[in-house]
Amino acid sequence: MYITKPNKEFPSDFLWGSASAAYQVEGAWDEDGKGRSVWDEFVRIPGKTFKATTGDKAVDHYHRMEEDVRLMKEMGLKTYRFSIAWTRIFPDGNGEVNEEGVAFYNRLIDELINNDITPMITVYHWDLPQALENEYGGWESRHIVDDFVHYAKTLFERFGDRVKHWIVLNEQNVFTAHGWLMATHPPGKVNDRKTFYQVNHHAFMAHAKSVIALKSLWSDAMVGSSFAFGPSYAKSDKPEDAMAKMDYDDLQSYYWMDVYGYGRYPRAALAQLRSEGVAPVFEEGDEEILKEAAQLVDFMGVNYYQTCVAEYNPIDGVGMTNTMNTTGKKGTSTVQGVPGLYKNPQNEHLPTTDWDWTIDPEGLRFACRDITSRYDLPIVISENGLGAFDKLEEGKVHDPYRIDYLKRHLIELKKAIDEGCRVLAYCTWSFTDLLSWLNGYQKRYGFVYVDREEDENEGTLNRIPKDSYYWYKYTIETNGAELDV
Ligand code: GAL
Repeated sequence: MYITKPNKEFPSDFLWGSASAAYQVEGAWDEDGKGRSVWDEFVRIPGKTFKATTGDKAVDHYHRMEEDVRLMKEMGLKTYRFSIAWTRIFPDGNGEVNEEGVAFYNRLIDELINNDITPMITVYHWDLPQALENEYGGWESRHIVDDFVHYAKTLFERFGDRVKHWIVLNEQNVFTAHGWLMATHPPGKVNDRKTFYQVNHHAFMAHAKSVIALKSLWSDAMVGSSFAFGPSYAKSDKPEDAMAKMDYDDLQSYYWMDVYGYGRYPRAALAQLRSEGVAPVFEEGDEEILKEAAQLVDFMGVNYYQTCVAEYNPIDGVGMTNTMNTTGKKGTSTVQGVPGLYKNPQNEHLPTTDWDWTIDPEGLRFACRDITSRYDLPIVISENGLGAFDKLEEGKVHDPYRIDYLKRHLIELKKAIDEGCRVLAYCTWSFTDLLSWLNGYQKRYGFVYVDREEDENEGTLNRIPKDSYYWYKYTIETNGAELDV
């Protein structure tokens, strides 16, 4: 499509933002009454993370919060998306509230508001209380739904007077696939498709009931969950590749977004899962609750990093447990897929990052267009960014590659807006450098460099704004009007 007279600027109330997650930035892993999360345990299993890195100290945001917010303020950031560590609020997942945990987030929220930055809270960014894993297997049990909703409600009650933007779940598709198919996240199970789909059903119920709970407490709040959306391209014009794309879309994208947006699973996906005997078990009333929540959702949250290619995968073809690149050595990841349906080879027409993530700015526009025509929902881009090896040289970090990456994505996002997509916010991943889950600290995403290495004791943890920090500051000041000059 070609809009002849695009608007120069982004919408006047556009939320220029940046994001983080508790485990990746906070540190202070056992302070002020915090309990242990599944990540606190998982990173201690030998071989799970790059050079055995942990988030014990992370980038020490817990103790440097005021400094980090000051840097946001100086940049002119409009919104900051962060997650709450469940184990700071309920050290054992349920029971008594830990008031010291609440106090930390109250200080953060107030600090943001006093600096004209809109807080956007993620309720769950993967750090499940270990106590619930021990008690009943965490997400594998239906019990999780009540404990989750109780936790979420507590946040809504304590913070909802000041916080109006809520993201319930971060990348449900990612934490469940890594946790139950690929063994790369807790609880580290391999190819357990039956449990994978049941876990997802529990997560959908937790999402839906939290959405309903929020709206009954604060009808003016805005809510959605964030999906890691990787739009797909069929590998070729062969009908079998067209089918592979349809299967991929139904099983890898619409399976989640249809539940958030419509309150039901895609029919073809369910038929496939039933034929394999791995479809989720519903309880009475679930269907109605999912539908009710879908009516209340205000936006689709999208974490966009890359597109993928869908190609027919024979029945004896590749599975999901192939190698990921966590070292930053280009070309070390292998192709994944579902035998009999699809696999996802590299796109030969597009460049990749050092961690083999495809770089495709136009994919962001496609993602927005697809969501808009399928669900007609507003969109919050809750993550987008480039992981790279940044170098501190003479007190400066020059990251023209990151500026180029973000600029090209924003130009495409602007096209989507001109084409009618209602995009409310754009959060880069991330504000400061942080722990990149499996990839340690060397994979950097921030506008602000943090002086630390994989080894806990190396580095001052000082904050140094990179070139991209000043570029984003200017982009916010000009409301994106000069991106393509
Ligand atoms: C996402 C995740 C973030 C961050 C990002 C970049 O999948 O939500 O926590 O790690 O990837 O690696």
